[in-house]
Amino acid sequence: MSHKSEDMSGDILKVLLTEQQLKDKVNEMGAAIARDYAGRRPMFLGVLKGCFVFMADLVRAADIRCDLDFMCVSSYGAGTTSSGVVKINLDLRGDIDGRDIIVVEDILDSGRTLSYLRSYLQGKGAASIAIATLLDKLDRRVADVKADYFGFVVPDEFVVGYGLDYAEEYRNLPYIGVLKPEVYTS
Ligand code: IMP
Ligand code: MG
Repeated sequence: MSHKSEDMSGDILKVLLTEQQLKDKVNEMGAAIARDYAGRRPMFLGVLKGCFVFMADLVRAADIRCDLDFMCVSSYGAGTTSSGVVKINLDLRGDIDGRDIIVVEDILDSGRTLSYLRSYLQGKGAASIAIATLLDKLDRRVADVKADYFGFVVPDEFVVGYGLDYAEEYRNLPYIGVLKPEVYTS
């Protein structure tokens, strides 16, 4: 039996971050990056799929010349806990030797994904690697990874929206919310 409601928002228990809160914070983050990278030409490297909404807003908030690329990695199956196994589904297209990379992530959780990605990019000769994550679940960190830019520290609850999914759904919610527990268990 399905416990899902007809519309997406019907599955949301509570709104954690509103559209306006997200907008204000992402604008701040973009401005900080533009300041820090003035005179350089960083490459924003988005981690798909979760980054797509955040990255679109972040790069438009950073008035700086830059390059954009994407990787698609998965550390999660359809569930809500990290498997610890990171798989590259889509690799970088260009050469990053000597480049300043800003990895753009939706959420930093155990840190396993970014820890893996960081060594991967170091191995490809990146000059510097910074991490920009919208959300940080600090309490859940296992790997030694710190965000250089983060939007919000969030509690250990499974959140969706603004790019973040549960089993590939809810990415297109314009805000970030917590799912009703019955949605997982259905
Ligand atoms: P980590 O490797 O444990 O840091 O996992 C990071 C990835 O797990 C993120 O890029 C998300 O795809 C996923 N993730 C972790 N927590 C959540 C959540 O609350 N909602 C949706 N996805 C999450
Ligand atoms: Mg993700």
